[in-house]
Order: sequence, then structure tokens, then C-alpha cells
Amino acid sequence: MSPDLQDATRGRLLFGGDYNPEQWPPPVWAEDVRLMREAGVNLVTVGVFAWAALQPAPDRFTFGWLDTVLGLLHDGGIGVALATPTASPPPWLGHRHPDTLPQWPDGGRRTYGARNHYCPCAPAYRRAALDISTAVAARYGDHPALRIWHIGNEYGTACHCKHCAHRFRGWLRARYGDLDGLNAAWGTAVWSQHYGAWTEVLPPGRAQYIGNPAQELDYQRFVSDMLLECFVAERDVVRAHSPTVPVTTNFMDWYRTIDAWRFAAHEDFVSLDTYPDPNDPAAAMLGAMSKDVVRSLGGGRPWLLMEQSPGAASWRPVATPKRPGLNRLWSMQAVARGADGVLHFQWRASRQGAERAHGAMVPHAGPDSRVFREICALGRELAGLVDVPGTTVPAGVAIILDWDAWRAVELEHQPHAGFRYVDRLTEYYAPLWRDNVTCDFARAEGPLGGYRLVLVPSLYQLTAAAAANLTAYVAAGGTLVMGPFSGVADPDERIFTGGWPGLGLLELFGVRVEEHWPLPDDAPLAVASAELGDFTAAGWAEWTEACGADVVAQVRGGPLDGRAMVLRHRLGAGTAWYVATLPEPDALHRLLARVCADAGVRPVLPGLPPGVEAVRRGDRVFLLHHDDGRVEIRPVTPSASAAAIPAVP
Ligand code: GAL
Ligand code: ZN
Repeated sequence: MSPDLQDATRGRLLFGGDYNPEQWPPPVWAEDVRLMREAGVNLVTVGVFAWAALQPAPDRFTFGWLDTVLGLLHDGGIGVALATPTASPPPWLGHRHPDTLPQWPDGGRRTYGARNHYCPCAPAYRRAALDISTAVAARYGDHPALRIWHIGNEYGTACHCKHCAHRFRGWLRARYGDLDGLNAAWGTAVWSQHYGAWTEVLPPGRAQYIGNPAQELDYQRFVSDMLLECFVAERDVVRAHSPTVPVTTNFMDWYRTIDAWRFAAHEDFVSLDTYPDPNDPAAAMLGAMSKDVVRSLGGGRPWLLMEQSPGAASWRPVATPKRPGLNRLWSMQAVARGADGVLHFQWRASRQGAERAHGAMVPHAGPDSRVFREICALGRELAGLVDVPGTTVPAGVAIILDWDAWRAVELEHQPHAGFRYVDRLTEYYAPLWRDNVTCDFARAEGPLGGYRLVLVPSLYQLTAAAAANLTAYVAAGGTLVMGPFSGVADPDERIFTGGWPGLGLLELFGVRVEEHWPLPDDAPLAVASAELGDFTAAGWAEWTEACGADVVAQVRGGPLDGRAMVLRHRLGAGTAWYVATLPEPDALHRLLARVCADAGVRPVLPGLPPGVEAVRRGDRVFLLHHDDGRVEIRPVTPSASAAAIPAVP
């Protein structure tokens, strides 16, 4: 049995942050440990950017300082998530091996002097990364402070160099067998692109005009796979030295470059870095969505909030700090949505370097500060939630999340350049969040039987397995809602013919889409519906032909007059809804509320005041108040213990 997060939590929620002692002289380390204890910190992430400090030259390792730091932490009772420091190679690597520096599609190279400057395919990078990982793992693999292995950091660098071209050819060979297969999949009959030899095949570069979409799509898949190879290679190194320590890497929210489903399958548990914008009125909802995504990536098991800012995120153009109470509120949102630990970037604010203006648990002002006092209070509070670690979050709804559909729908020269996959998912998530209906995210080809309702806001690219899975789900009595521009192309970016959605979904939904009808945002569509109330829609519509489904809403006026925009098709005990447009938010809310009611999906608690989020986890119901002012909530379910987390304590 491989280890998991519970081997690290040992029954207590984890609390702490990124700790970069290499930026500080030794006297500060002792003070750090004292303050960590004061704050209730029990885990710090160490070594993420310490490659140069640990290996200042190719043949010189300097572990003494880290020995001391880990010793101090252990003596202080503080656990360590130890990183393989491979996200930021030292200058000597790029200087000696310029081919480890990543290349842009136009051929220019990135330089060292920042971070993440590595080509995942460069043999010299791979070798050096494994060398330093092996050295770290060999030295600390059985250190008593070690609780978690943190591999790399936020995988996501794409490169277009000759090493990548070489590996890309091998990747394509494995996928398509031979050049005939490649030519067929890429549709190279278009524009005289036929390849006659493997050496002619290149990563997509800066071309004269529109590139080949299938080539671009494959390159995106390839880049994700190469980064995954880097992760797996380092994971195997640390596992060999400490088989009982769980391994993770930190995801960023909504990052298209790596297919997080594929990564998650190779991790012992998943973790998330998330930085909602305190100035964004939608931040609470967006934060909840990211947290539901990461829980789902980990199969519903507890996950780790690896990074959030205790204050400002300095990379924002306007880096407003979190107002008093907000870090507590968002931390509790993470715990409510399945996190078994709340960590921050970073422990002590850097005085120098790119992130000198970033928030920290110990800000520049020092421990005598609002921020540190709030951190201490949060540490105490989390320590009290002893019944929470290891528990799970029930959800009756799944939203389909698919990296290939995301990549493909955002390729160049789709019918609408502004069609954004994550916007589509957010539009469906937001009303459910407002109604306190808990959602998971799921794969189109994965098990869906446990959900009363499955939402597919956008699934432009469709595989035969996904089509069969969705069909079987409805046939077994499930309720399915699919959004527009779905079921359009196969995994090679080849358009289905004969009407959409393809691969038999046309029969499932009882509708045939003949034409896609993207619209400018300032030309709203009037839609009439006796059932839902009339509404407007914008940005997208379709020329639909109902063939078996009931028409729930249809266009009034204009060239699409009379075309069905919302259709419902009952099949045995199941129901399949098709929504051919982008309804205004209130209308989508009404539609989804209706669908939830029909499908027997209930909110965690009904009738809560606006701005109050309710999430059930284990035996608790967490109530999170995101608006200003006070709200009063009458005791609801006598069985559930409620923890009310106001925005302002
Ligand atoms: C993350 C990263 C951290 C730090 C943080 C700042 O992307 O992993 O090292 O840079 O952002 O917000
Ligand atoms: Zn490369």
C-alpha cells in the first residue's frame, strides 16, 4: 500500500507554509522555530528553491545548513515537506548547458536569472535534476522531521527546442505507429503538409500563417507528458529512499499546460496553490471551485492546500492584502472542502528578490503585527478541529472536467475566439455554489454512477469512451445537462459529420445541431420559455433541430427564430438536457435549480442568507459568511455541529 496524506497528518490538520531559510542568516532560524511554535505551525515546506544553496557547483554539495535547519525544526516538533529543488536550476547549469534553457516557439531562448527555466527534455537537465534529487533523498530520506516529499514546483514550463523535437517524434511514433498514421491524424492533406520522413516533423513553431490544430493539440499533450516524466523520475528517486513518505507536487488552479488528472494518478495525494483575488467579488465562489476541483483530482480523498498568501500576492498589478479575517475564512473554506492542511506562501517575508512585496505569515513588520496575530489565531483554531482530518465531503453533482476538450476548444481559429473553457465551467458552477449544492468534478470517461446529476458545460472534443459513458449514465437513470459546442470533434481534432453532438449523443439528447452560431456579445438573443421564464442569451447559439426532445426554450426573432435553445429528453428513468446557448446568469440559475429539484439534488442547507456558504464534511457543517456585516442563522440540523466562520471575527 502506498502512503497517503494521513501518514503525514497523523490525525492533526497541517498548518504552516513555505520556509526559505537559505534567504536568512542562522540566527533568524532559531527565531523562526520559536515563532512557528507560537503560531501552532506543524509543517513547513523546505528546499523548493534551494538548488544553488545545496549544490553551488556541479561537483560541490553543501548540506550543512540544511542539516542544521532540519534539526532545529525537528527539535521544535515541526514536520517538513521536503522539496526536490528542481524547479529552479542554478546558473551553472544554464551556463554550462545552454541547451537546458527552454526555447520559445519562435526559437529564442529564455535565460536564467528567474526560475522555471528548464527544458523538460534536455538530457543535461534530467541528469542534473536526478543527481540533486538523489543527493537530497539519500541524505534526508529517513530524517525524523520528514513528513512529505514535494516534487519540483508548479510544473508548467513548455519548450520548443531540438531535444523536445526529438522526444516529440518518439511520442508521435508511439501514438500513431507510422507516418501514415501521423499524416492521417494531422490532416496533412490540407495545405500541402504531408510528412515524408520523421526528421521533417517539428514542434509547432512560429509559422507564416495559421498552424495545424492537430499538431498544436498533440504538442500540448506531449509537453504535459514530458513534465509528468520529470515528476515521475524524481518521485521514484525519493520513494526508493523513503517508501513510507507520501509524495505530491503542487497544482496551480486552472492551469491548462499540465493535465492534472494524469498527474494526480501518479501522486500519493494532491495539493493546490491558490490565490483568489481579494478584490474580485467572485473570489469566494472561484476559491470554492478550485478547492472542489483539487479534491476531485485526488479522488475525493483529503488534499493539501500547499500555498495561499496570508496577505498580498505580489504578482498582481494591484497587490491588495487580504482584509482582516479573510485568510481565516478562505482557510476554513479549504478545510470544509476537504483539505487536511493549510499552508501559505511563505513563512517569512523576503527582503530581496522578485517576491519582496509578497505577503507572508511573518510580514516585514515582524511578529508584532495584525497578520501574525491572525496566523496564530488560525493555528490555534485549526488545532482544535481534531475530528476533521481524514473525513470526506459528500457531493451529489459532478461537473465534467476534461483537459483535451479544454485545449481543443481554445485552439486558434475556432468559430469564437473568446470561447473560454473555464468560463463555461464557472457559469455552471456559480449558481450551484450560491445554492449550497456541493459539486465534484469528474472525468468524462470515469465512474459517474454515484451522482444524481452530471453537468457537462463544455465538451467540444469527444471520445467514443466518453460518449458511451455518458449514454450509459442516463440509461441507468441519471440526469445529464450538456452545454453548447459539445461533441464536435474527435481526439485528432477531426470534425464529426452529420450533425452534433456526435458519436451517438444526438440520439441521447434528441437534438441535432446543424450549425454553430457564434454571436457578438453585444447582440443578445431573446429566448422564450414558459417553463423557465423568458431570458436573454449571448455569445453563442446553434441551429438546432429537435428530434425526440421536448423544447423547453426557443429563440424569438432574428435568423434563429424558433430554434430550440433548451431541450429535455427523457429516456427511461434518465433525463438528458441540451443547452445550445449561453443563458444570462439568472436564467441558467433557474434552469439548474429546476434540474436539481427534478434530480433530487438538495443543498447542504436550504434557505441560508445570501453570502453564506455551507459545506458538509464528515459530521460537520461548515458555515462561511463571505459578506460584510452579521447574519443570524437559526440552528438547522440538530445532528450537525456548525462552525460559523464570519468574514470579520
Ligand atoms: C507560487 C509559487 C511560490 C510563490 C507564489 C507567490 O506560484 O509556487 O513559490 O512564487 O506563487 O504567489
Ligand atoms: Zn526543449
